[in-house]
Amino acid sequence: MNIPLKSAAELDAMRASCRMTAEVLRQVAEAVQPGVTTGELDALTRRLIEGMKAKPSFLGYHGYPAAICISINDEVIHGIPGRRVILPGDVVSLDVGVLYRGFHGDSATTVMVGVTDPDVIRLVETTRRALAAAIAAVRPGGRLSDVSHTVESVAKASGCSVVREFVGHGVGRHLHEEPQVPNYGLPGRGPVLKPGMTLAIEPMVNLGGPEVVVLDDKWTVVTRDGKPSAHFEHTVAVLEEGVEVLTLA
Ligand code: MF3
Ligand code: CO
Repeated sequence: MNIPLKSAAELDAMRASCRMTAEVLRQVAEAVQPGVTTGELDALTRRLIEGMKAKPSFLGYHGYPAAICISINDEVIHGIPGRRVILPGDVVSLDVGVLYRGFHGDSATTVMVGVTDPDVIRLVETTRRALAAAIAAVRPGGRLSDVSHTVESVAKASGCSVVREFVGHGVGRHLHEEPQVPNYGLPGRGPVLKPGMTLAIEPMVNLGGPEVVVLDDKWTVVTRDGKPSAHFEHTVAVLEEGVEVLTLA
């Protein structure tokens, strides 16, 4: 396995692209409201990234046609923006990547639009907590699967399930680098975490069963049972002192 370790200068470059990623995500999340189309949110994303003299990481990646992934309700990840109108009660996940001076940042959040269903609120808050707990499980000398196991534990304790077909990943000069970061598994396995590793940790959690299906558009991943799903993601760096969350606005 080739897990790139970033130098101090490379980590500084990652800080810049990740800060931009966080700022874009914050502004797009603020623009999510009933009546807005996902295509308008994609246009906003492109404008913001262009204004930073940066590039959208996702646009053109394996042919992906937009700057942001917007996945609503039963959509888990990789929803393609378009004419869809955001409605009250929607649970909207936003996933964005920014390439600046040779390094990618990658982050996702889930916004509830006038959601009152307590099960959906439990889903979203569980997924948010799963990411926070997973980040807290990152320590130099620790093992990668401790992070994975933490996500699974938090999700299952709240009666939710984790998606297994899609995983987090190393991130840096490439959007996807080694290692893969699953959201499930036994603790104490996998690579030892070392200072200089930069990881995108991204729990994808379902209210119902863990099974997912890819739609005919070849991108949109939905839950098989039609129940809602949530997604949060941060890019983090392993440091000698511990963990640094890079995608904070
Ligand atoms: N953030 C997602 C990931 O890490 C989205 C990338 S897929 C893309 O896999 F095609 F949309 F870029
Ligand atoms: Co990612």
